[in-house]
Amino acid sequence: MRTDRWWLAPLLTVIGLTAWVAYATVRVFMQKWYFLDGPGFHYLTPFYSPCISNGCDPRAAEFGTFLPDNPLIPYAALSLPFLLLFRLTCYYYRRAYYRSFWMSPPACAVPDGHKTYSGETRFPLIFQNAHRYAFYAAFLISLLNTWDAIISFHGTDGFGFGLGNLVLVANVVLLWAYTISCHSCRHIIGGRLKHFSKHPVRYRMWTFVSRLNAKHMQLAWITLATLAITDFYVMGVSAGWWNDLRFIN
Ligand code: FES
Repeated sequence: MRTDRWWLAPLLTVIGLTAWVAYATVRVFMQKWYFLDGPGFHYLTPFYSPCISNGCDPRAAEFGTFLPDNPLIPYAALSLPFLLLFRLTCYYYRRAYYRSFWMSPPACAVPDGHKTYSGETRFPLIFQNAHRYAFYAAFLISLLNTWDAIISFHGTDGFGFGLGNLVLVANVVLLWAYTISCHSCRHIIGGRLKHFSKHPVRYRMWTFVSRLNAKHMQLAWITLATLAITDFYVMGVSAGWWNDLRFIN
């Protein structure tokens, strides 16, 4: 009986997520235009980090290569499945795709698209409870992305600074904001404490994470955008479509 445009949010979610997944899939299997270095820069897109395939450009393979070079195996096949799992099991994304793709339910006070409802108590959705472990993996991968952002300032001739560095750093800062605003992170930091007064440091951290947590949905979308923008920027420079704007070196 709702007469407002309740369908708009699920529709935008379907469009946004489908577009992002399509872009990411194309890029992950493209296996080119993912890396570029020069006198003062060393740019690696997050979609190819860590680059561990035998097909990787050796200059991009910071951690060695041990995966066979195969068009069906992404160059970053070690990190991508965990990142996918992290986002798939994220409390916000669950809400988003349950509503928009599964119509379960599509909006408040709108009938469910399904006749029965078993929540997340059965296979395969019971695995949504593993989100905490995906968070641990995502935390480690965020460290890796931080490393990529740091060494992006160091090219073949030493230090440099350009627009690409800003893009990579902004992306990693926002990725951290998304990662630590995770509900599991909030619980790991401040959950199960009976007396906050006895744990002042954890309380302060929990307060900080809680503030970020309130913005988790926005950060979920913003980081999808920054990931795509960062990748697209590196692709464009690497392909020679545009030049990196250099401030130093
Ligand atoms: Fe969204 Fe953990 S709840 S990343």
